[in-house]
Amino acid sequence: MRTALLLLGFALAACAADQAVIEKGRQEEQRTCLPCHSLRIIHTNRLSRAGWNKELDKMAGWGTKYTDRDAILEYLVATYGDDKPVAPPDMSADGRAKK
Ligand code: HEC
Repeated sequence: MRTALLLLGFALAACAADQAVIEKGRQEEQRTCLPCHSLRIIHTNRLSRAGWNKELDKMAGWGTKYTDRDAILEYLVATYGDDKPVAPPDMSADGRAKK
């Protein structure tokens, strides 16, 4: 029983650490990616870890300077991974889907 509780404790701690990294990545995204383009161009993608990695390398080639690339990668994989449902369609101001 004590071992089970201990394991549960570790699992929760690991989970909390992951959440902290993901939250850090979300903030880094604002700072790192917004200077060049909207976040929508990012958030409409659903990519694997390898896919996001490639994308971040590509952005680096275009001049992106990372202070915490790992956190951004974890955040992107957790939030916009290829296991996530496709992004909702782009809406115009009156709420109708854009053609
Ligand atoms: C130095 C400028 C710059 C920064 C900073 C930047 N990008 Fe980009 N990004 C671009 C350009 C240029 C494009 C192409 C835009 C277009 O096609 O209209 C692009 C396009 C994209 C695309 C669309 C797919 C593609 O490859 O064209 C994704 C996804 C993307 N960026 C992700 C990111 C992420 C994530 C960050 C932050 C970590 C980021 N970008 C930061 C310049 C930048």
